[in-house]
Amino acid sequence: MRKPLVAGNWKMFMTVAEARHLVADLVPRLQTVEGVQIVLCPPFTDLLAVAALLEGTNIGLGAQNMHWEPNGAYTGEISPLMLAELAKYVILGHSERRTYFHETDETVNRKVKAALEYGLIPIVCVGESLDENESNRTAEVVSRQMLKGLEGVDLSGGKEIVIAYEPVWAIGTGRAATPEGANQVLADVIRPALAELFGQEMSQVVRVLYGGSVKGDNAAQFFTMPDIDGALVGGASLKAEDFTRIAQAAASHS
Ligand code: 13P
Repeated sequence: MRKPLVAGNWKMFMTVAEARHLVADLVPRLQTVEGVQIVLCPPFTDLLAVAALLEGTNIGLGAQNMHWEPNGAYTGEISPLMLAELAKYVILGHSERRTYFHETDETVNRKVKAALEYGLIPIVCVGESLDENESNRTAEVVSRQMLKGLEGVDLSGGKEIVIAYEPVWAIGTGRAATPEGANQVLADVIRPALAELFGQEMSQVVRVLYGGSVKGDNAAQFFTMPDIDGALVGGASLKAEDFTRIAQAAASHS
């Protein structure tokens, strides 16, 4: 059985002071949620403060991006070697990175390999744009992102990845995918791609999340779907009550 995972992507929100406040509010609420892996992904500048507050809890910590080199003359970048001291997870290939910062399947692929090499668990984001969706290219686009983004990735030795299916048109729009529609992409495109890359058995082991306008009041319906193993949450992860409700919904389906 795949353990549900609920990750909060804080995006470019929260100063250190705000982050401390939110995490202090979240920890006691989330402490009683069992059977779910909860992960917070704040901006880099919050990682140290949040790591200190999460010590001794069962809440994991992740970053939102990284470079693929361990170090070097790359002004403004953060490396997997640096992250590995602070975090266990890293979101890679988010559509905002692909759209605004020109990330490609090739750079995502380098990052995934580097993250695994440094013991991080990548949360790899895939998903089609509105235009691609409306022209019936979802399967083609998501399949390409999976096969190219994960080409040559080696999951032997207990290495782990997580996939997040985030249709771009559902992100921050309040217009979530239907649970059935999202599940269909997971079942028909993402798990078959995982089978092609890593074998049939692994395709049933890797956790696949849904992301895009997941809130406290719509989360439960996603978790009843057989292929959806959790959620990658943006806006609602900045609100302690909403994020807790999402984690609780995942717990009741674990
Ligand atoms: P929203 O939950 O705000 O739609 O964002 C989803 C997302 O991009 C998570 O990575």
